[in-house]
Amino acid sequence: MTSDRTSRVEKPLLAVLQGQSQASPPIWMMRQAGRYLPEYRKVREAAGSFMELCFNPELAAEVTLQPLRRFGFDGAILFSDILVVPHALGQTVTFEVGEGPRLEGLVDRLGLGRLASRLDEAVVQPVYETVRRVRQDLPPGVTFLGFCGAPWTVATYMVAGRGGDDQAAARMFAYRDPEGFQLLIDRLVETSIDYLAGQVAAGVEVVQIFDTWAGVLPDAEFRRWSVEPIARIVGGLRQRAPGVPVIVFPKGAGSRLAWMLEAGPDAVGLDWAADAAFVSREIQPRVAVQGHIDPLALKAGGAALDGAVDAALAAFGDGRYIFNLGHGIQPDTPIAHVEQMVARVRAWRRA
Ligand code: CP3
Repeated sequence: MTSDRTSRVEKPLLAVLQGQSQASPPIWMMRQAGRYLPEYRKVREAAGSFMELCFNPELAAEVTLQPLRRFGFDGAILFSDILVVPHALGQTVTFEVGEGPRLEGLVDRLGLGRLASRLDEAVVQPVYETVRRVRQDLPPGVTFLGFCGAPWTVATYMVAGRGGDDQAAARMFAYRDPEGFQLLIDRLVETSIDYLAGQVAAGVEVVQIFDTWAGVLPDAEFRRWSVEPIARIVGGLRQRAPGVPVIVFPKGAGSRLAWMLEAGPDAVGLDWAADAAFVSREIQPRVAVQGHIDPLALKAGGAALDGAVDAALAAFGDGRYIFNLGHGIQPDTPIAHVEQMVARVRAWRRA
């Protein structure tokens, strides 16, 4: 299926990314397919492991579509994981129940020698097959997003071999051997361009680059390890897939969100601590913005949630805005709170 210009403008999320603000903002949620949904938990159990779910096109397509049926979101995000890239480079990834990801750590430049230079096509083909299936069953008006992790964030997991709190292992590698670390980042830049171009060829309409750990970097390192590699991915993708909008989510960037505009995104994602006045003054006039709702306000529900929704709509609703959370939804969030949030956003109209 092709997405010509006419079919594109009927999609509110795509329209915002193409420069047109909407009377009521389009909405989706990061991690919208996940453990807070009983129907997800059921499929996840049937799939065996989390990685098996990621590589099972039938089941991955099913969980991609589940949250749309329940909440009528404007966006569907491919069900997969940012750690598929290291896995497809030969660094085996597993998920232990309740413990998060485990990878064989790449503590130094020598570890790099064990990595492939290109993605193993046999590993990523099932992901592209998931994209084709979802695209076929996508409800009208819904925009389909693909994604990858930003090189810095993916590297933090590759170097440490697990998730952590301060990404110390990758920061140490980068300080001790910047040239060696640059080789790892370069490998991730090249393979991420291939991976995103593959997702676009299979049917995604927008891509998001998740830089979850951008905020831990000092200024110079933020430029070198977050902005520059993302700029290269955006540039590379623009050549391979012209016209496909790119959302960049540099979590914790603060005022350095302005630096990320140099990477050329169509939109930037806001975490819940982003300064709303700064963003509406310095960022939103230049690109669309997405996010800002604290996932814990969503979990808390009630007046806290209504207040967070109203504040985000007041700050950003008059400009190009995609309603979303400031990070992924937490597994123990009540479904009724998601319904409450969606209803409030849908009822809002710009003055
Ligand atoms: O947003 C979506 O619904 C699409 C799917 C998606 C997942 N992970 C599914 C997932 C996306 C876009 C991601 C991105 C991702 N993965 C990021 C960047 C965004 C972020 O949340 O910071 C990161 C850092 C990862 C790596 C990762 N994957 C970790 C650290 C974990 C363990 C923590 C956890 O929540 O369990 C995962 C697992 C994971 N990825 C789950 C899901 C639904 C939960 C695993 C399960 O079902 O058992």
